[in-house]
Amino acid sequence: MCGIFAVINDKSNNAGQTIRQGLKRLEYRGYDSWGIAVQSDNKIDLIKYVGEVDKTADNIKKLPKSIVGIGHTRWATTGAVTKINAHPHYSTDRSFVLAQNGIVENYEELKKDLTQKKYRFVTQTDTEVITRLIEEELTKNNDLFSAVRQAFLQLKGRNTIIILTKTGQVIAARNGSPLVIGLNPESNEIFISSDVLSFAPFADKMIIIDNNQLVNCINGKIKIFDIRSGQENKYGIENIDIKNDRVDKQGYAHFMLKEINEAPYVINQLLKQDIGAYNELAAAIKKARSVYTIGSGTAGVAAAQTAFYLREYAGINAIYLVGADAREYYELIDKDDLFLAPSQSGETADVLEVLEVVKKKGAKIASFVNMSGSMMTRLSDYKFMAQSGPEICVLSTKVFDAQIAWGYLVAKITAGKTREAKENLRNLSVQIGNYLGNNKTKIQELAKYLLNAHDIFLLGKYQNFQIVREGMIKLVEATYKHAHAIPAGDLKHYAITLMEPGVPVIVVSSNDKVKSDILNTVYEVKARGARVIGISPEFDESFDFHLEVPDSGETSAILNIIPLQLLAYYIALMLGNNIDKPRNIAKSVTVK
Ligand code: BG6
Repeated sequence: MCGIFAVINDKSNNAGQTIRQGLKRLEYRGYDSWGIAVQSDNKIDLIKYVGEVDKTADNIKKLPKSIVGIGHTRWATTGAVTKINAHPHYSTDRSFVLAQNGIVENYEELKKDLTQKKYRFVTQTDTEVITRLIEEELTKNNDLFSAVRQAFLQLKGRNTIIILTKTGQVIAARNGSPLVIGLNPESNEIFISSDVLSFAPFADKMIIIDNNQLVNCINGKIKIFDIRSGQENKYGIENIDIKNDRVDKQGYAHFMLKEINEAPYVINQLLKQDIGAYNELAAAIKKARSVYTIGSGTAGVAAAQTAFYLREYAGINAIYLVGADAREYYELIDKDDLFLAPSQSGETADVLEVLEVVKKKGAKIASFVNMSGSMMTRLSDYKFMAQSGPEICVLSTKVFDAQIAWGYLVAKITAGKTREAKENLRNLSVQIGNYLGNNKTKIQELAKYLLNAHDIFLLGKYQNFQIVREGMIKLVEATYKHAHAIPAGDLKHYAITLMEPGVPVIVVSSNDKVKSDILNTVYEVKARGARVIGISPEFDESFDFHLEVPDSGETSAILNIIPLQLLAYYIALMLGNNIDKPRNIAKSVTVK
């Protein structure tokens, strides 16, 4: 998952700076290295550096004035994090540069063939193989556009590429990773990017590029083609609906803390949505032969919690599929099945791959997505937008809250309990707002208490099991400590061997039907000297540390993730970690 950003007809005549602003807004997609290339006087000037844009952005002054350029912010897949491997990459004769988002799965075999044809490579990347492949195609006919098309057709895997030529032509191709075009009809500027948010302040309209489409922009005129047939496509121009979304921290120290505090807002956003669409989905759920939920990472946990709510409150035997591991279900899926997919970006490759397969089988798809214009929304029969506002921190918090609240709402509407669900969520939003206002000091105290722990264990059951799984993910992502979520009922079957004096165990429980089961598990770990941190409405003698949470009835699990998000934040803060851009991960994994 890298970020691609291009500007054409830049009104400031300083394409380098404009691209820098775009890359900053795309850094959630990867920040290992960055590069910008601009065109002027029939040549291309290129700079690239390891690390985040801001750290070396002064060098943009080295670029000449220009109205057209491309930029790239990298999350390394093939090739180490080095300056030479940073994108964009020059063609051998420097007549064009290329940047890529994706993975060329057959790059070794292509590279071997090109090496035999005497092409030279200066990087370890698969990206450079695409560049040489285009050069090879150019020897067959001296038309760059058709050379790009022929080369792109030879790539295996999900890839999006963008090319800038020394004459200022821009070509882009998409098959997998996202690509959208922004238009400012007034200034005649054109933006080509990995997401809408990156050019939202500068553009009013957008064109969403589909898989297997090729964009050719010469002298500021856009044409779109089908990559396979070469035929020109008509395209629709849509309004940008997130134009005024702010992407600053609004006074918070980090995006993560700001976004945790937006939990009440995102739940209220849900409550404003058209209930008709929910009733349609509920009818489809009841009619479906099998109902599956799917997602990766934190969204995967939300998918699992949605499946729990459907089973518990709607009597639907919903099955949760781990995004990347649905292959064994392919033969079981048919046109009467229904898939529910929560996703922040709507572009997670692992999940898209499954949805593309099930769609071909005729199954129906419902998605709940936070980014406009995503592939997942376009694939869906039932399209829900989280409307949670931009989630900039790589770690998902507020969108996760929205996703599980959505899962609860869908389950209750399916059970015919719409009014009750909306009432419960409205109360929950108030409870979370109060909780956020009064518990930070206590959670900071707990963060100190756990600061030197090497391993942190979490126990949960029933409605809280997915919550402790998400607490584990937050702790791992933010603190780089090993955290381990254990299904409470499974403790004595394996994890109890890890219980020894001083081991911290966070136990999340609610006033529900498994409360006493959880307490039995607590006594088992306590008997072996563990330090028990209880996150629950009531205190218990066995707790060494009690984090009181309000009883939120059926929505208790949604509230219980808030203290775990804050705990991960404060431990990371005390450790001095890069909270909004943790090491090694990216916010949207648009490659397999
Ligand atoms: C991971 C992110 O890379 O992808 C997680 O770090 C996210 O926060 C997961 O949940 C799935 O992404 P998405 O966009 O489908 O929610």
